[in-house]
Amino acid sequence: MLDDVVVIGAGLIGTGIAYELAKRGAMVTVYDRAEPARAASWAGAGMLAPYSEEVVDPALLALCDASLRAYPAFVDDLRERTGVDAHLRHEGTLHVACDDASAQERGAQCAAFRRNGADASILDRDATLAREPMLGGHVRGAVYVANEAHVDNRRLGRALVAACTDAGVRFERTTEVALECDARRVRGIRTEHGFAATGTVVNAAGAWAGELAGVPAAAHIAVRPVAGEMLALAVPKGFTRGLVWAQHVYLVPRDDGRLLIGATSLERDFDVRVTARGVQSLLDVALRIAPVLGTFALVETWAGLRPASHDGRPYLGRTAIDGYFVAAGHYRNGILLTPVTAQAVAALISGEQPPIELGAFDPQRDAPEAA
Ligand code: GLY
Repeated sequence: MLDDVVVIGAGLIGTGIAYELAKRGAMVTVYDRAEPARAASWAGAGMLAPYSEEVVDPALLALCDASLRAYPAFVDDLRERTGVDAHLRHEGTLHVACDDASAQERGAQCAAFRRNGADASILDRDATLAREPMLGGHVRGAVYVANEAHVDNRRLGRALVAACTDAGVRFERTTEVALECDARRVRGIRTEHGFAATGTVVNAAGAWAGELAGVPAAAHIAVRPVAGEMLALAVPKGFTRGLVWAQHVYLVPRDDGRLLIGATSLERDFDVRVTARGVQSLLDVALRIAPVLGTFALVETWAGLRPASHDGRPYLGRTAIDGYFVAAGHYRNGILLTPVTAQAVAALISGEQPPIELGAFDPQRDAPEAA
């Protein structure tokens, strides 16, 4: 019989774990300062693109691959349960070359993608324009990665929250939350509303995961926020097809006609302002590869905080404190890693074999005795 479980953090990772635990019969309460799925889960672009993100660490790549494979069943289940379709689209990624230098690098770029497991091929100019007609006629070609996808992360958040609610998960808004434990095990949590007893707590607090009060030094994880600014243009529906990348900027279409353009990468603490320089840098690249985009309305700008660990790997699993689990530090791949994280962490808490080996993601790997 599963214990009552507290999940701290109502993002995609936290709600994903809560949903998987509720399906296994646990009584789950999710605590967050903000509305569910409104921080990085809402701010992301929903790219399911580990090769384009240049993930090369074999353990992390295997985790990303497992999650990418799990996505279709994950969104199908949520759609059947809630009626909310997360718009999973398998349209691949186009890495566009606009000048001689980047056109010459396509061979090496394609080979590097293939070494990591990408289904990558080189496209000439005509094939590139046929695949993505919004691009300017000056493009020189592209590398196309067929086995990448994207999902509407805001719809996915809505689907997960609805699925959680349907499965009996409770959501609590709190301004303060602290872990309560003794030297060996979790006793509960304390919020501004008082003490809540539980033997199992999951820290899924994203960029704030390293700030959780009450965590003993032996179980502390170091997570730092890396801000990403983004914007959206209103383009005609169907105007763009798949993911487009150029010079570290990506363009992601949405079924509702918005085209997301992201993202900067700024280490400036918990600052989520959108700066003029950030918007300029994104539009500079986007309008260089597709000048026609300059004619459309800029309808939204926003920023989110990626939760970064020191080695690029998330922290997943048990800690030195019995009953205190961590699922944090997913950095640029939190949306991609949601299904595998939810299933693996819920399995671990339920005493089942996780679907993937989690040793490389041990939350205690930074502890002095692990070195
Ligand atoms: N995964 C996209 C980003 O973090 O900007």
